Amino acid sequence: MPRISDAPRILVEDVHKHFKLRHTHSMKETFVAAMRRKPLTSEFQALDGISFEIGEGEAVALLGFNGSGKSTMLKLISGVLRPDEGQVRTRGRVAGLIEVGAGFHPDLSGRENVYLNAAILGMSKKETKEQFDSIVEFSEIEKFIDTEVKHYSSGMFLRLAFSVAIHTHLDVLLIDEILSVGDEPFQKKCLARVRELHSQGKTLVVVSHDLNMVSHLCERGILLQDGKVRFDGPSADAVELMRS
Ligand SMILES: Nc1ncnc2c1ncn2[C@@H]1O[C@H](COP(=O)(O)OP(=O)(O)OP(=O)(O)O)[C@@H](O)[C@H]1O
Ligand SMILES: [Mg+2]
Repeated sequence: MPRISDAPRILVEDVHKHFKLRHTHSMKETFVAAMRRKPLTSEFQALDGISFEIGEGEAVALLGFNGSGKSTMLKLISGVLRPDEGQVRTRGRVAGLIEVGAGFHPDLSGRENVYLNAAILGMSKKETKEQFDSIVEFSEIEKFIDTEVKHYSSGMFLRLAFSVAIHTHLDVLLIDEILSVGDEPFQKKCLARVRELHSQGKTLVVVSHDLNMVSHLCERGILLQDGKVRFDGPSADAVELMRS
């Protein structure tokens, strides 16, 4: 009998995800294409049979060039998207920092959004209230906490979203690129906190084009190419393969 802790945190089994690509623009083009029985759309396989398992406490870099399917994969793991085929399973609480401003309501203030965002991540109102000051302190945006977030800069969104995420009881943290909109001091602070989460045994999946940073942070690298896993192994080797 396997122990509970041996069960993977993330299980991705033969996942396929396609998107429709449009080929026409104007009414006329659409009409002409229809008359000639030309297809108006075609299918694009963003993920074409992806499988991997990520265990408790692993830090994994999801690597690949632009358009290789990294963000799509993270959205499937976070549950924002569903696979067309195959399955994605996760165990424990998953917090995702995937798109700047996702999970925020533009017309609400930073303060109200902290409660909203924390609730989405499974925190009760009481827990959030207790953590509130600490959340705002880490974000360093006290001055703007009662401003509607539609007026926030990208960096301010990141600050609040990151701060809320690290104050929840997460088991798995997914980070997509988003750190790159933070200024250097804040990026350093975020990275230090991410390392701390890793040392506490949390599971991390990180997407970044900063290959040096990500290969230091993560011991394992999964390299996506043309919707498939090209390499899965030590992150340094994955990075070397990308650069070759
Ligand atoms: N909602 C969508 N509709 C149509 N195509 C999409 C959609 N989302 C993603 N795609 C396509 O799927 C492919 C993979 O996109 P994805 O955003 O996952 O790439 P990525 O690896 O994150 O790239 P980047 O490094 O630029 O962030 C791209 O070709 C993209 O155009
Ligand atoms: Mg992306």
